[in-house]
Amino acid sequence: MMKFYLNGKEVETQAPSTMRLIDLLRDEFQLIGPKEGCGEGECGTCSILVNDLLENSCLIPIGAIEGAEIITIDGYCKTEQFQILSDCYSEAGAVQCGYCIPGMVMASAALLAQNPHPTEDEIREGISGNLCRCTGYNMIVDAIGLAANKGVGLW
Ligand code: FES
Ligand code: FES
Repeated sequence: MMKFYLNGKEVETQAPSTMRLIDLLRDEFQLIGPKEGCGEGECGTCSILVNDLLENSCLIPIGAIEGAEIITIDGYCKTEQFQILSDCYSEAGAVQCGYCIPGMVMASAALLAQNPHPTEDEIREGISGNLCRCTGYNMIVDAIGLAANKGVGLW
C-alpha cells in the first residue's frame, strides 16, 4: 500500500507501483481532468503538479510519488486562483476547442507560482511543454500575462 496527498487529502492505493499516474488518477480516483493525448510526454494534456512542479502524469510510475503532494486540475479548479486565471483565459479568448486547457492551466499555475511576474519569453518557456492546436499560443500568453497582473502567482 502506498500513501500520497491528492488535491489536499491523504489517500492510499494498492495499485502496482509500475502503473502510470494518469491511469491511477483517472481510473481509481475518477479525476478525469488530466487527459491522455500522446502518452509519451510530448503534449502536456496530462499535466499535473507534483510538489508544486509541473509534470506529465503519463510518464510517472506511481511508485515514484510516495508521500508526494499531487494537484490536478480537478482540485485546482476549486481555488480562488483558478477563478481569476479562468476569467483571464476567457477575457483573452484563449479557450477554443478546450482540449489543451486543463494542462495549460496547470502549466500556468506552476509558472505563476514560481515566477509571479514572468516576461513574455518566460511565459512562452513556461508553456513550451504544452501543445495547443487552435490558438497559436498568443492568446494563452496574453491570458497568463493578465493573470500575473492580477496576482495569481500568489498561492
Ligand atoms: S499525454 Fe502526457 S504528455 Fe501527452
Ligand atoms: S484550445 Fe484547442 S488545443 Fe488548445
